[in-house]
Amino acid sequence: MASSFGAAQVLVASNRGPVSYEVGEDGSLHAKRGGGGLVSGLSAIGPDAGALWVCSALGDGDREAVRRGVGEDGVRMLDVPADVHADAYNGIANSVLWFVHHMLYQTPLEPVFDAEFRRQWASYEAYNRAFAEALAEEAAEGAAAMVQDYHLTLVPGMLRELRPDLRISHFSHTPWAPVDYFRLLPDDIAEQVLRGMLGADRLGFLTRRWADAFTACCDALTGGLGATEIGVHGLGGDADFLRKRSHEADVDERMAVLREEIGTAPEGGARRTIVRVDRTELSKNIVRGLLAYRELLARRPEWRERVVHVAFAYPSRQDLAVYRDYTAEVRRVAEAVNEEFGTAGWTPVVLNLEDDFARSLAAYRLADVALVNPVRDGMNLVAKEVPVVSDAGCALVLSREAGAYEELGEDAVVVNPYDVTGTAEALHEALGLPAGERAERSKRLAAAGTALPPARWFLDQLEALRG
Ligand code: G6P
Repeated sequence: MASSFGAAQVLVASNRGPVSYEVGEDGSLHAKRGGGGLVSGLSAIGPDAGALWVCSALGDGDREAVRRGVGEDGVRMLDVPADVHADAYNGIANSVLWFVHHMLYQTPLEPVFDAEFRRQWASYEAYNRAFAEALAEEAAEGAAAMVQDYHLTLVPGMLRELRPDLRISHFSHTPWAPVDYFRLLPDDIAEQVLRGMLGADRLGFLTRRWADAFTACCDALTGGLGATEIGVHGLGGDADFLRKRSHEADVDERMAVLREEIGTAPEGGARRTIVRVDRTELSKNIVRGLLAYRELLARRPEWRERVVHVAFAYPSRQDLAVYRDYTAEVRRVAEAVNEEFGTAGWTPVVLNLEDDFARSLAAYRLADVALVNPVRDGMNLVAKEVPVVSDAGCALVLSREAGAYEELGEDAVVVNPYDVTGTAEALHEALGLPAGERAERSKRLAAAGTALPPARWFLDQLEALRG
């Protein structure tokens, strides 16, 4: 049997890989590398550690790369048929499991678990099986396989059957739903998800709260965790990288442009800024953030002409109609606020929908207040990053439903994300914090937010898994 084992000692499995491909006009393939905690973690173990990243081909460029046999060392892209992937990724992962864990359903009419759902679920199983089989093929005897996220909940159980010798972990980058909400899923499906994950030796979560919610689901549905261990690993920001990157020339250029757009207050000096940067996900609560800002301007007219809401909302999952509609609503509400309060020299909301990392960092540097008000969020790294980067220190208005609240709650101005009036008052309070206190709090937020940088976060999990 030993001869059929692969060579990889550490395997990571995730839907989205560290690289993606685009086909140029001349037919050539261009690789684009991504970032994030797993990328830093894998580079921390070094190129000789026998690491392999198994991911899915996502677009046509990726599929073409697989077909041409183009690839990066240490990455194996699976060419799951496009329709199977769409059912698994858009249909199940993003429209069902994401909705369950973020509690996003408008329950009078949804969810509806019918024959169409069952058909998509079969694709989700097939897609999970493709990952389990690839991992089983590539893993050396006794290797560590680290499976990521709600896309791949069935992989640990499937892989355990194929390769009982492996050390298997699964990490959830999202919240976990409370029992009553998790049980919206059909009973057999709910149980299959839990049992799939319990195939792992070790399950990781971003906060104690999400870990406890998972345990409660198991207590209710599977008779407990069995032999599976639970670990909490609160991913933090990468202070060194952020400080360095945010002082490069492209960021300075964008700061100059932003300063123009923000403009000066009537009595001179730059206007205050309330900054938010999000992927436009339904859970980010961008619309209520805009409504809170509107209410701030209505209730506290002294802020008119003196503050600008810089809101960057970058495209996400645009294959899904609800995401496209949500983006349109963000735009509509921002325009309505500008219409209602804007003057010749003041645009109250500066909204930008095009992804630009350097411009995000420029906004972080200029932030007086960072607004992070998700209805529910696994962690939220923006909350941890802005205090590190902001030039003068920022006040953080933070939702108590963000995972980051567990670590940052004490030095933030905390809000209930549904309470628009409360959020408006929190913005007022944050804008009014005395400079000294704001700087002190920002320093503590930065320290807490970078306590567990990505490489350490990853290595801790690997060490714990290897035992
Ligand atoms: C967010 C979540 C992750 C998830 C990712 C997928 O960042 O926190 O849990 O893996 O979205 O995003 P994607 O663009 O690949 O759908």
